[in-house]
Amino acid sequence: MLIAGGTVMDQGGSRRADVLVKGEVVAEVGEGRALRAPAGADVLDASGCLVAPGLVDVHAHLREPGAEEAESIETGARAAALGGYTAVVAMPNTSPPADSAAVVRQVLQLAKGACCDVRPAGTITLGREGRVLSPMAELAALGVTLFTDDGTGVQDPGLMRRAMEYVSVLGGVIADHCEDASLVGAGVVNEGAMSSALGLPGRPAVAEEVMVLRDLALARLTGARLHLLHLSAAASVAAVRAAKAAGAQVSAEATPHHLALTQDWLASYSTAFKVNPPLRTSADLMALREGVADGTIDVIATDHAPHPPEAKDTSMCEAAPGMVGLETALAVALTVLLDPPGLLDPPGLLDPPGFLEPPGSLHPGSSLVRGPQASEGQWTGLPLERLLAAMSWVPAKIAGLSGLHGGPVAPGAPANLCVVDPARKWVVRPEKLASRSHNTPFAGQELTGKVRHTLLAGEPVVVGEEAQR
Ligand code: DOR
Repeated sequence: MLIAGGTVMDQGGSRRADVLVKGEVVAEVGEGRALRAPAGADVLDASGCLVAPGLVDVHAHLREPGAEEAESIETGARAAALGGYTAVVAMPNTSPPADSAAVVRQVLQLAKGACCDVRPAGTITLGREGRVLSPMAELAALGVTLFTDDGTGVQDPGLMRRAMEYVSVLGGVIADHCEDASLVGAGVVNEGAMSSALGLPGRPAVAEEVMVLRDLALARLTGARLHLLHLSAAASVAAVRAAKAAGAQVSAEATPHHLALTQDWLASYSTAFKVNPPLRTSADLMALREGVADGTIDVIATDHAPHPPEAKDTSMCEAAPGMVGLETALAVALTVLLDPPGLLDPPGLLDPPGFLEPPGSLHPGSSLVRGPQASEGQWTGLPLERLLAAMSWVPAKIAGLSGLHGGPVAPGAPANLCVVDPARKWVVRPEKLASRSHNTPFAGQELTGKVRHTLLAGEPVVVGEEAQR
């Protein structure tokens, strides 16, 4: 198969190159010259496109086993492939949770034949109850590298210390959901002026910050590798920046929704915007973007959290938190983060669609609604290569998948690739998403950038924006 006419971009930089794939591997990269398709070879058109290592998501909820009405490994993996992912780490807050070898084996079994390489994460504690450690060594022996109770944080510092001690011996990483439950209380939106104005219980940023600080200290003590999931608060970014400056072995992630949307969207009372940790202020959003730009935030991960309509079509307090993201993550990141700004349309934050216009009384100066680009104007954009690093080769390394996923695009390397048209404009239509659930906060939004083809081990699983199986 020949991928013709594109620009290869990987950790080695970018170059105009056709890419020849034979079997499961890249056979040849024709830098600066056209390669001839061998007789009988298929040609994938990559003109105007980037040919990049497949994206890697270290944070996706695929819901199987137990909540197949929301998602299955098959549907989630298809959504992932359409979003340009060739590998996804499946979060263990399934039902039952992946806290035993049996469930991890089940996920591995279900992942066979999926459109994307699905790697199960294991829980830190049994039942994600925060009381007793899971059989981490047994899970690691099955290939689990990420341990997390995501959905909730491990509240007991002594237990987290033990988990870190085990994980550093096992060679894995603690993927940390940082929220202190006693500070979170019953909060459902960011605590502050917005929660007061909406009359909804607040979920303070400090709930995240205190657990980030605690676990940075515990990682320093134990030498464990720590990955901080879905950071949302400026203070957390500052804490990670300081820890990294002091030499900490920590990585951090932000989600496309925290990089694109502020709490102001909650003024619609639409539960599509309810997520944990919650969308916060424009200052938090800008701190996250700056964190991505200066490398404090290593990874952009989806926190793809599918929920069926009945879990979302209810009150804000009762609705399930989370939003789908696998099919929109790259496009949202390209739309709101990219440099040069010419590729951004519109630059900066996404504008709320008309039907989500918040009541004016809540927003005396409506700059809040339009976000920091309008009010602060200081975002200068991210180089495309940095964006791809944060979505492909850096997360591949964190998940222990380097060499298999995340490039480089070079002869002999596994052909796990995505071909992205960075200029293609499209409108998010929830009903068209391949994910079984359609709870996207980007409904009706025009995004710039779309995955044209995805190859998994040399097999074209997405061709011309269509899933092949
Ligand atoms: O909003 C969220 N939803 N945050 C999480 O941490 C878990 C996720 C889910 O599983 O639905």
